[in-house]
Amino acid sequence: TLVSTRSLLTEAANAGEGIAAFNIITLEQLEAVLHAAADADRPVIVQVSENAIQFHLGDPAPILRAATAAIGSSPARASLHLDHSMSLELCKAAAREGASSVMFDASHLDFRDNVAATREAVLWAEGEGILLEAELGAIGGKGGAHAPGIRTDPGEARTFVEDTGAHALAIAVGSVHAQQERTTRLDRDVIEAVRALVDVPLVLHGSSGVPDDELAAAVRSGITKVNIGTALNVAFTGRLREHLVSHEGQSDPRPGLLAAREALAQIVAHLLDVVRSSSQS
Ligand code: G3H
Ligand code: ZN
Repeated sequence: TLVSTRSLLTEAANAGEGIAAFNIITLEQLEAVLHAAADADRPVIVQVSENAIQFHLGDPAPILRAATAAIGSSPARASLHLDHSMSLELCKAAAREGASSVMFDASHLDFRDNVAATREAVLWAEGEGILLEAELGAIGGKGGAHAPGIRTDPGEARTFVEDTGAHALAIAVGSVHAQQERTTRLDRDVIEAVRALVDVPLVLHGSSGVPDDELAAAVRSGITKVNIGTALNVAFTGRLREHLVSHEGQSDPRPGLLAAREALAQIVAHLLDVVRSSSQS
């Protein structure tokens, strides 16, 4: 069932829970996420990044339409989100294809330019009823150099949200994108300080590198949306590789993809539980 990201974030924030947002690239990954969410009877945010759309030849329609259709026919309550878009045009296209939220990422700009660009995006989003997530304090590991030392300044976060009207805020608290090992420790003081000053839901990026207990603690400290991508790829590609190596004569891709889809659903089920259990202490 397709629902809005706004409703899922509000629901999670009111319950003091986190909501997982999973990045998908292929149809099989999308199916695994929805299957696991339906099985666990947990809501979920399905997200597709600008990067993933570039992989699909730069056309947002096929993958987003597939996501909208799959969500629509799944018993899971799920929303569709455009992740890490540096292009307002792409945000507009995603909204036309069923996304109820977008992340407009101008965090590479300095504070004033980030505010100006994000403000323009928010004005568009409000006209369309789209929830807009912005980022302040560039989170490391987005293809460029890792910058694990960067932290969002809580006072700046308050000014940023006031000045832009952003509806959700991604903050730099120590996580780094694309980590294949789960060893990251977060700066929970920063999460708590931003939480105390900012009303909108806070978003953790690069969650794949963060261990279970630390993810749960981050939600208790005030994170609402937990973005997870790489951990899904690790499970999916790992199982696919295993299958292909042990079935050298097989040319039908489906048995390998089936195994990979099942491995992905397992990690999704686990992470849905981790994010939820955060409220229970
Ligand atoms: O926006 C997507 C997330 O930040 C995913 O990061 O691939 O490191 O889990 P990750
Ligand atoms: Zn991210």
